[in-house]
Amino acid sequence: MQNKVSVIGAGNVGASCALFAAQQGLGDIVLTDIVEGLPQGKALDMLQCGSPLDTDISITGTNDYKDIEGSDVVIVTAGLARKPGMDRLDLLKKNAEICGGIAEAIKTHAPDAVVIVVSNPIDVMVYHTFKVTGFPKERVIGQAGVLDSSRCAAFIAMELGVAVTDIQAMVLGGHGDTMVPLPRYTTVSGVPITELIPKDRIDAISERTQKGGGEIVNLLKTGSAYYAPAASSVKMAASILNDTHHVLPCSAYLEGEYGLNDVYVGVPCQLGRKGLEKIIELDLTEDEKNKLHSSAGVYKESLKDLGY
Ligand code: 2OP
Repeated sequence: MQNKVSVIGAGNVGASCALFAAQQGLGDIVLTDIVEGLPQGKALDMLQCGSPLDTDISITGTNDYKDIEGSDVVIVTAGLARKPGMDRLDLLKKNAEICGGIAEAIKTHAPDAVVIVVSNPIDVMVYHTFKVTGFPKERVIGQAGVLDSSRCAAFIAMELGVAVTDIQAMVLGGHGDTMVPLPRYTTVSGVPITELIPKDRIDAISERTQKGGGEIVNLLKTGSAYYAPAASSVKMAASILNDTHHVLPCSAYLEGEYGLNDVYVGVPCQLGRKGLEKIIELDLTEDEKNKLHSSAGVYKESLKDLGY
């Protein structure tokens, strides 16, 4: 039987997720949104890419959550995106309302799915989804670190002129300005960038990575990035559906790992068919650990605003 992937939210991130997933043949794609006609129209448009892209595309659009029934993976992208001058945390209350309703629907209609949360602020929305669905932590994961690491990798490739595919970047922490790029664990074909790039340039790349989402918001002026967020989410979905056990930085529920408890924050995760298979605990310096803790602290505070 074909895998089934549902994408909630047919805005820019959701539609891009659907298209990347369809192109990669991840399975039957269901694109859902509350706006009448939007998911149906976009799905039909994508379906018609089959011939020019020379690939079989299986996609439908719907306004009815019942259609996500039997999903193996659900990607949640719904919610407001930030505009210039806004922090991701400014979206907290409104997106929590939206994500809470979606989590209820997933619990009812796709109780066996692995859920990937992309809506911002991701580390809080994924915690909320975990609580509302009541799913095990293995099946509720946030997308953040894959995107942040891919931005870091792009900047390193620009700096060194090397193939981006040779770069393994590692960015931990929450998906916000407090994220923690780890140059010691970021390599070009196995060589740490600390041996290839001077410290002041590494610092500049780390800072650009931390502010990478904002850089795009300021350029677009009317919304936030979507191609790389979508590609990153689909990379996670592919590792889950194809059971490839990739190790990717994801927002995961921590119960003592890295000395943190009852919080979702970005850490290296092994993903397979069951979702989160394992959290890899890196040996961090005191400084790296402090930065990770202070990033987690920001999200703990936001959780309090939601009554957790
Ligand atoms: C970003 O960093 C949308 O949070 C997303 O671009």
